Amino acid sequence: MPLKEGDFVLLLSEGGNTYLIKIKDTYFSTHKDTLYLGDLKGLDYGAKVFGKKGTCFYLLKPTIHDFLMKVERLTQVIYPKDIGLILLKLDVGPGKVVLECGGGSGALTSALAFAVGDKGKVISYEKEAKFQEVAKKNVSRLGLEERVLFKNQEVRDKFDEKEIDAVFLDLKEPWLLLQAAWNALKPGRPLGILVPTTNQISQCLKELERLPFAGIEVLELLLRKYKTNPERIRPEDRMVAHTGYLIFARKVEEK
Ligand SMILES: C[S@@+](CC[C@H](N)C(=O)[O-])C[C@H]1O[C@@H](n2cnc3c(N)ncnc32)[C@H](O)[C@@H]1O
Repeated sequence: MPLKEGDFVLLLSEGGNTYLIKIKDTYFSTHKDTLYLGDLKGLDYGAKVFGKKGTCFYLLKPTIHDFLMKVERLTQVIYPKDIGLILLKLDVGPGKVVLECGGGSGALTSALAFAVGDKGKVISYEKEAKFQEVAKKNVSRLGLEERVLFKNQEVRDKFDEKEIDAVFLDLKEPWLLLQAAWNALKPGRPLGILVPTTNQISQCLKELERLPFAGIEVLELLLRKYKTNPERIRPEDRMVAHTGYLIFARKVEEK
C-alpha cells in the first residue's frame, strides 16, 4: 500500500543509521543529508530514496523492536533484549491482563500492550505524571492506548486489582511491593522484576523467600552483536555491557 501522510517509516541510511519518522510535509535532516518527507508519499515500504546530497535511504516498515528502540525517554527504559524474555516468562499473550508498577517512559508498557492484543489489558502504575505523559505518547504512537489503563499513583503497599495474570515491577525498591504483587496475582502465575544492581537482588530474594513464591530465578542477558562482513565475521568492538538483572518467581498458596 502506498505511503501516506502520518505513516511511520524507519529510514535506514547507507551508513547503517536508522531514523524513525512520520510522513508529513517537512524536511528531515541527519548529520549528512536532508530529505523532504512529503516526497515519500505514494512510495512503498522497501523503496530506496536519495537525500539532497545523494545519501541513499531505504524506507522500512517499523517493527515493534524498532519502536521500542526509538521510544521517547525521560527515565531509564527496558530494552528489547530483556523485554523479549520478560514477555515469554510472564506468559503475556492475547487476552491476558498484566499489571506493571514503575511504568516510567512506557517502553515495557508498549510491548505489553502489543502482546496482550485487542482483548487484553495492561494496568500501568507510575507515580510521576510527567513520565506517564511520555509513556502515553509512546503507546499512542503504536495506536495501542485503548489497551492500557494508566494510573498516576505512587504504590505503597497494595494494588487495586486482583486476579491478574502477571505482574512486573521496575522500580527502585521492588521488595516493598512483593506482598502487594502476591495479593494481585492469580495462583501459580508469574512475577517479574528488573533491578540494575546486585544489592537490590539480595533484598528481593530475602523477601521472596519469606513469602509464598516458588521457582525463583535470577538472570542476566548479554547480547553481543557481530560485524556482517562475510569475509571477516567477528564481534562488534563495543557492546552494551549492562542493562539490568531479571528476577522471576511464581505465586504459590503456601511456602
Ligand atoms: C526505571 S523507571 C521504569 C521504566 C519503564 N519500565 C520503561 O520501560 O520505560 C522506574 C519508574 O518507577 C517509578 N516508581 C518508583 N516507585 C514507584 C511507586 N512506588 N509507585 C509507582 N511508580 C513508582 C518512577 O517514578 C520511575 O518512573
